[in-house]
Amino acid sequence: MCGIVGVLGTHEVSPIILEALKRLEYRGYDSAGIATVDQGNLDRRRAVGKLINLSDFLVHNPLPGHSGIGHTRWATHGEPSVVNAHPHQAGTVAVVHNGIIENFKALREELAQHGIGFETETDTETVALLTKHYLDDGMSPRDAAEKTISRLEGAFALCFLFDGEEDLLIAARKGSPLAIGHGDGEMFVGSDAIALAPMTNKVTYLDEGDWAVVTRAGAEIIDKNGNRANRDMKEINIEATQVEKGGHKHFMSKEIAEQPTVLGQAINHYLNTEGTAITLPEGTPDFAKIERITMVACGTAYLACLTAKYWFEQVARIPVEVDIASEFRYREPPIPANTLAIFVSQSGETADTLAALRYVTEQGAQTAAVVNVPESSIARESDLTLPILAGAEIGVASTKAFTCQLHVLALMALKAARDRQIIDNSELHRNLVNLRNLPGLLNVAIGRGDAVKKIAKKLSESQDVLFLGRGPMFALALEGALKLKEISYIHAEGYASGELKHGPIALIDKHMPVVVFAPSDSLFDKTVSNMQEVMARGGKIILITDAAGAKEAGEDVWQTIVMPEVDDFLAPILYAVPAQQLAYFTAIAKGTDVDQPRNLAKSVTVE
Ligand code: G6P
Repeated sequence: MCGIVGVLGTHEVSPIILEALKRLEYRGYDSAGIATVDQGNLDRRRAVGKLINLSDFLVHNPLPGHSGIGHTRWATHGEPSVVNAHPHQAGTVAVVHNGIIENFKALREELAQHGIGFETETDTETVALLTKHYLDDGMSPRDAAEKTISRLEGAFALCFLFDGEEDLLIAARKGSPLAIGHGDGEMFVGSDAIALAPMTNKVTYLDEGDWAVVTRAGAEIIDKNGNRANRDMKEINIEATQVEKGGHKHFMSKEIAEQPTVLGQAINHYLNTEGTAITLPEGTPDFAKIERITMVACGTAYLACLTAKYWFEQVARIPVEVDIASEFRYREPPIPANTLAIFVSQSGETADTLAALRYVTEQGAQTAAVVNVPESSIARESDLTLPILAGAEIGVASTKAFTCQLHVLALMALKAARDRQIIDNSELHRNLVNLRNLPGLLNVAIGRGDAVKKIAKKLSESQDVLFLGRGPMFALALEGALKLKEISYIHAEGYASGELKHGPIALIDKHMPVVVFAPSDSLFDKTVSNMQEVMARGGKIILITDAAGAKEAGEDVWQTIVMPEVDDFLAPILYAVPAQQLAYFTAIAKGTDVDQPRNLAKSVTVE
């Protein structure tokens, strides 16, 4: 949520900052802005809407300078407007901010008592004005920034730039991630390593409560207790091309198409060379000693957890509780002994999931992170990290991260089943053989996109769509509905098939398409009965099933998408593909912005 960048360069920095902001645009696209210092003078340019508006504006209103900061905004306080856009400037200081300053009202009142007025509705302007106030008191930029940072409550990543200071950035991190990049005579600050990838792969992550004085000579880092801190410099392996569309029209279609490859690589990573054993990282618990699993996440990651609940309970016989992080964190649930708490997050930075992890850590339970960004806060604060190895995911609607999360959770469930001797080695091997065949099946499923596209065209005329599924397919029904509403803006609801008659059936008429995920498994006949109930009321069924299911479902089904046959256990991973494609092609038919849907952001670092 909001992306920030800082550059102390050797050339003009505006184009470099724009490039970095392009890589951070997934964090928000309500407005964007850049400030630079040129020959001692601080100046800024800002524009509402996507980054392209700022870059167009800069063509006619260039912003020279070798030092600068930039911002791409997801609005929290104040509407998206030029005046509310970052960088916020007060006198000789400009600041960019990601997060929320929770005590901004108290600080505003304090500043108002000194006769200081406000131009914007943002919490961030308070930071700029407070710093100016301390500068006016005669403090140096460093002292003024330090004093300001110490007064702030909430979650933030900040980067300050000062008039007259061409070799100084001050960066601070509390609750929102921030990385410092080391170049050749240049230094960088960025919300993540992806932003800095074209400039440098040498990155130092600030720890919680750190702030840093950055000059071209390096970074001096001070920890939350005011002591000089040494933080490791890491070489990050992000290829610049990972964040390009690679011939696809959208990141989402590229990321859907990448699934067989990234999943294949992840499978190789987590199985031994013969493919006969699961090799999870050291520290993975012996599940024979685990009595209960609690899984916590947000959004699509939450729905991966809901799918995995079926796996852990059915295959490994461990009771599982699944919770939405924003609910879990304030409910203060008791955590029984021998609980493993699993936190699933693509970004590893989602504020509510991180807060839930901290709550569980305080309770003394064992924690595991299933994340896509191994350097993320959730990974670093968990006892154990299992990277999902999906590669950079840029499309706001999560696709390959979902299937890669499911893959890691499936492996954990199989290991748990073996540790607890619910399955024997031959049953484990059978599952692993199926797993190794999965990338091939995903390829086949992706190849059936044209059939999905035709159906999506019809779906795009609907006002409301219902998604149904039973067992693990219930979680996928929720995910299918979530995907459709987030990128096509069509109202969609996911329901457990068996719940249909407890309310949603009242909505059924000829205008209401009902998407049903139903491989021909042991629950198939039950779902067919639910489909009959829909069709008897004029409802239109879009059935996603295999060849046997398509045959058994009969002729009255409105549309059918046929998936290759797959083992029941892995079906949710395969059936995720048509769920994603249905949303993607419907959004295309409606002409909505697939990669940057309105009001959303990918990395939700505020509550
Ligand atoms: C946002 C994104 C979703 C994502 C959710 C959780 O809502 O748009 O795609 O599933 O956050 O994010 P995380 O990074 O924790 O998986």
